[in-house]
Amino acid sequence: MINNNRAFYEEVVEGLSATPKYLFSKYFYDKRGDELFQKIMRCPEYYLTRCEEEIFSLQSHCIAEMIKKHLHNFEVVGLGAGDGTKSMYLLKEFYQQGLSDTYYPVDISDHVIQSLEKKIPRNIPGLRVKGFHGEYIEMLKDIHEFSGKQKMILFLGSNIGNYYPDRALHFCRLLRQYMPPGSLLLIGFDLKKHPQIILNAYNDRQGFTRDFNLNLLVRINRELNGNFTVKSFDHYAMYDPVSGSCKSFLVSLKDQQVRIGSAFSVDFLKDEVIQMEVSQKYHAADIDRMGEDAGFKILGKFYDSRKWFTDCLWQRE
Ligand code: AVJ
Repeated sequence: MINNNRAFYEEVVEGLSATPKYLFSKYFYDKRGDELFQKIMRCPEYYLTRCEEEIFSLQSHCIAEMIKKHLHNFEVVGLGAGDGTKSMYLLKEFYQQGLSDTYYPVDISDHVIQSLEKKIPRNIPGLRVKGFHGEYIEMLKDIHEFSGKQKMILFLGSNIGNYYPDRALHFCRLLRQYMPPGSLLLIGFDLKKHPQIILNAYNDRQGFTRDFNLNLLVRINRELNGNFTVKSFDHYAMYDPVSGSCKSFLVSLKDQQVRIGSAFSVDFLKDEVIQMEVSQKYHAADIDRMGEDAGFKILGKFYDSRKWFTDCLWQRE
C-alpha cells in the first residue's frame, strides 16, 4: 500500500532530516498534483509531452511492425500510466493488429488508475484493463504473479528521468527481472538540447511547475498535519548541461521552523533549499549503453521530428 500515511510520514521525516534536505517527487501526485501536472503538460514550454505524442501519432504503425518481428502475443504494462493519452495510440494499434488484448496500467495515483479503468475501455472497446495502484517494482511483482505471459512494458514520458543515471541503470536491471524472456520494453528518454529550452520547460511562465512543487507542502500539511507556510517558500529550477540533470528546489524565504505532526519539527535557514526532483536528460549514445548494461538487446529507436525526445525498444532475450 502506498497511500498509507506511515510510509509517507517516514520518508518526509527522513528527507527533511538529511543534509541537504530533500522530498521524494513520487509524492507530487495527489488529486491537485495530478491536475497541475496536466496543466504542465499543456503549457507551451513543456515540450516533452508534445514530442512523444508526435512520435506515437505518426509512428505507432512502424513501432508495431518492429515489435511484430520479435513478439506476437503479449500483455501491455504501463508504468506511470498518467492520463493514458499517449499510450492509447499504441494500445489501439496493438489491439487492432491482434497483438494484445490486455492492459495493466500502473500508477502511484489511485485517482489516475480509477479514471483509466473507465476511460480506456470506452476508447478501445474489447481491450481488457486492470489497474494496479502503487510503486513500480512492487506492482510489477504483483503483475508477474498475476500472469506469467510475455509483456510489453511501456515506461513513457521520461519517467525514467526521475532517477539519476546510476539509479536508472539499476532500475532497468530490476525491471528486466520481472519481464518473462522475450518481453519488450518501450522506454522514453528526454534528450539533451539547448539548455535554455530545457530550463524553460521546468520554469514555465504561468507558474504551474512552481505550484506543482509547492503543492507537496500543501499535501504534507493536509495528510501529515504539517504547518508549512507555503508562501514562505519559492521554486527554483536549474539545469546543468554537462551532467544533463535538471533539478527543482524549494527555497526557504526566511529562517523558519516547520512542525509535522506532534513529534517532528525542522528548522530552515533563510535561502536553504529542499531538493524536490531531478529530470535527467541524455545523449542517444548513452541510452544505448544503459540498455546494454542492463542486459537488454537494443531493437530500435523512434524520434520526433526535432530529435528532442526518443522512445527506445529493448528486448529481454
Ligand atoms: C513525469 C517525471 C516525466 O520530470 O519531466 C514535469 C515531471 N516535473 N515538470 C518530468 C515534471 C516538473 C516529469 N515526469
